Amino acid sequence: MPILPVEAYTSREWFDLEQERIFSRTWACAGFAEDVAEPGQYVSVQAGLNNIFIVMGRDRRLRAFHNICRHRGTQLLRAVGRTQRAIVCPYHDWTYDLEGRLISVPARERQFPEVDFDCVSLKKASVDLWRGMLWVHPDENAGSIMDWFGEVEPHLGPHEVDELAEYPKGRTEHTIKANWKIVVENYIDGYHLAHLHSGTLGMYDHSRIESGFVGPHFAFWEPLAPDYAENVEKNSPYPLVIPAEQAGAWVPMLFPGIGLAETESSWSLFHVNPISPDRTRVVIRTRVATASSWAFTRQAARSRRFWAKRVSGKFEGHRDDPMASGDFMAEDIYACEQQQRSLGSPYFEHGPSSEGEAGVREHQELVRRWVEG
Ligand code: FES
Ligand SMILES: [Fe+2]
Repeated sequence: MPILPVEAYTSREWFDLEQERIFSRTWACAGFAEDVAEPGQYVSVQAGLNNIFIVMGRDRRLRAFHNICRHRGTQLLRAVGRTQRAIVCPYHDWTYDLEGRLISVPARERQFPEVDFDCVSLKKASVDLWRGMLWVHPDENAGSIMDWFGEVEPHLGPHEVDELAEYPKGRTEHTIKANWKIVVENYIDGYHLAHLHSGTLGMYDHSRIESGFVGPHFAFWEPLAPDYAENVEKNSPYPLVIPAEQAGAWVPMLFPGIGLAETESSWSLFHVNPISPDRTRVVIRTRVATASSWAFTRQAARSRRFWAKRVSGKFEGHRDDPMASGDFMAEDIYACEQQQRSLGSPYFEHGPSSEGEAGVREHQELVRRWVEG
């Protein structure tokens, strides 16, 4: 028996339940710490049914509020930006300070003679910093973020995330024509690595994967393939970010939909955003060593030599064919979109599931439990 029915991947009803019962009740990633680094700077994020913004106050403290004007509910702030000294609603100019207090209402005495404006401050949400990332929770009393991530933290990479710099070309966005769970299941599936990615992720030894769930989060580690590891300083596409003897990949999927790819040469956030039952936006942001552009150019040239030998002849298909592009993300997107299409066929039936897909089954079970409430 499949753990989740086909409708879990195709219906609006399931999508809405997940938004309400999973994405509105968990910590959501709102970006990197440096995105909100000055008083008045803000970022807003959708956390399930809630739009929440984080703003830095004049005291340099981060605060999170529900992005809803207390008058008639207009959304106060757009995605990112820098405010002046206050937050002004675009509809009737109600104005809040950076601490969320209502400080000005046009024609207050005439229009609202009886109202106590101390009772209409912005509604608070929770905000925290963890591993160089900003996090929000819709509930103002969500508690410490370590209650949520503390257990999985020892299973993550040894990276000093704050010491790495965002790679200038390291931010990409993909809209994938598939349900968010297909994207997450693909991330968790260790069985496909040696097959779908035989030409693109061969630097890792997929026969030595260590993975499993720690609470609601999926932890994953694999070492480098021996011939690549021998000379990892030369083979790596970027300067190393952890010592060569620790080289390997930690690729956890934090619930619900925040993947990390922590390797010897880079550290990436893989943020899965459900858009609709069959659309998912993935935002990837990558951090690398803080080194000169000359160091990056030299490293890229060295590593190209290794790769030219290793993959020669593997990608001789058509350039536009995702399976011949040499890009593992294109391979994953192709596989996810094809699966989503098949779900619409009356001939689709779940097949047997392997040991390497244990995490996929466990993720489905987890989603089922949260949705059932
Ligand atoms: S809705 Fe914001 S001021 Fe009226
Ligand atoms: Fe993959």
